Amino acid sequence: MNEFTEEINRRRTFAIISHPDAGKTTLTEKFLLYGGAINLAGSVKGKATARHAVSDWMEIEKERGISVTSSVLQFEYGGYCINILDTPGHQDFSEDTYRTLMAADSAVMVIDASKGVEAQTRKLFKVCVMRKIPIFTFINKLDRDANDTFDLLDDIEKELGIATCPLNWPIGSGKEFRGVYDREKKCVISYSDTEKGTKEGTAIEIPLKEENRLREAIGDVPVDRLLEEMELLDGAGADFDLESVRAGELTPVCFGSALTNFGVEIFLKHFLAMTTTPLPRKSDMGVIEPTENEFSAFVFKIQANMNKAHRDRIAFMRICSGKFDAQMEVRHVQGGRVMRLSQPQQIMADERKVLSEAYAGDIIGVFDPGVFSIGDTLCVPKEKFCYEGIPTFAPEHFARVRQMDTMKRKQFVKGIQQIAQEGAIQIFQEYNTGLEEIIVGVVGVLQFDVLKYRLENEYNVEIRLDSLPYEHIRWIENKEEVDIAKLTGTSDMKKVKDMKGNPLLLFVNSWSIGMTLDRNKGLVLTEFSRN
Ligand code: G4P
Repeated sequence: MNEFTEEINRRRTFAIISHPDAGKTTLTEKFLLYGGAINLAGSVKGKATARHAVSDWMEIEKERGISVTSSVLQFEYGGYCINILDTPGHQDFSEDTYRTLMAADSAVMVIDASKGVEAQTRKLFKVCVMRKIPIFTFINKLDRDANDTFDLLDDIEKELGIATCPLNWPIGSGKEFRGVYDREKKCVISYSDTEKGTKEGTAIEIPLKEENRLREAIGDVPVDRLLEEMELLDGAGADFDLESVRAGELTPVCFGSALTNFGVEIFLKHFLAMTTTPLPRKSDMGVIEPTENEFSAFVFKIQANMNKAHRDRIAFMRICSGKFDAQMEVRHVQGGRVMRLSQPQQIMADERKVLSEAYAGDIIGVFDPGVFSIGDTLCVPKEKFCYEGIPTFAPEHFARVRQMDTMKRKQFVKGIQQIAQEGAIQIFQEYNTGLEEIIVGVVGVLQFDVLKYRLENEYNVEIRLDSLPYEHIRWIENKEEVDIAKLTGTSDMKKVKDMKGNPLLLFVNSWSIGMTLDRNKGLVLTEFSRN
């Protein structure tokens, strides 16, 4: 056992995913409340910044120096050291949101009980499935009228293709919400007022077998309905199986109300008991075990400072093994250099804390003098291995970018390439055109505004963006076997290449993708690229 084994084993690193407004921020606040990181729920991040509009986004970025789109929160609870990675939604949804999931070992999915699975959840969920990371579901807002519980579970199973296992069961919803039934303890935890969620209410636990007491406490109709539903569930629901949870095939589900702080601590306890310690990761030298290897990390996000006065960049890395010490020398494998990481810091919601040590599972941000790229590996000087690359995710919005002043071609190319290197946008080129005309692809449309703003402010280049009708992009997985010139698609399909020269196809709709696959036997297309 290494001196750092104990520290690593008490770490839990997870991402929190949801559609905007499902209650992710509220749930996170309540988690922090239990951890004692804050005294009163609601002070984690100002609501104004959590729900900012497009217009004030730039100002927020400038003020803070780092992106509000990337928060990492660390707190202690019950002996665990917990890292929460926020995955922003709203208009600032970007490729970073996907990449954040690469740094997590599990995910908490928050679903609004009156809405079920929504678009953003579906997108993020796909990435979780690709990585086979365990997913824990919190169905929120039971204090409001909710969809039928069986329908909600059905929706998750059908929409996301993952089996569900409810750990507890809601009794009514909205004005009729009476609490939850804990299936393991076989008792009802009654809903009580919790002073607007500033503390867990004084919930009463009543065993199911004390039926009379239960009927007195929550009423005849809810008890009859619960008994009926339990009978149905015992016959129909998936059995709990930790192996399937850890393989990402089964999601444990809890019901509650984050706002009134009901069911949150129960969920947190279940979650911590089931989730894993920092997971081993694949590298080109085999699997790297967190507790058996010395320090190593990979860069999953690079954030340029929006503050014009300090044009610095922060590289966010996930520590995958061992212990990090601010004084240590590390090898940046891709850069071929041994260096000290400059100003290592923990980036909290709205503050940076300089840190002297960190462990596998933790996320740190370091000052990047322009040497890091997404996916780069850092390790101790005597080692030399690379972690598996971070995939490039398919953008969904495309535009043609032209510089207004052709004299500034150099700045334009430099600017757009640097911004693409940070991973905020992806750039593509048509065959037979030069670099003065570039196709930009983004995951969220706000990135177009960011690109325009940054090119103007940081590189002094004015651009024109003309949106293109494409909605799907596919990499050609078997590019060695395919002659791109001979490929026949639909008339609206466009052939482009990325900056590394990989061929790609742009499609207006999914029908064209199917048609192209039909017309070119043997062609293999993919939504993520590991090139
Ligand atoms: P997000 O981060 O997923 O986008 O959601 P957030 O927590 O900001 O919650 C979105 C809205 O839903 C907020 O209301 C919040 O108070 C409310 N909410 C969250 N959890 C619950 C819950 O369990 N029950 C009920 N009834 N509401 C919940 P808002 O009116 O938009 O903001 P605010 O005025 O409350 O700050």
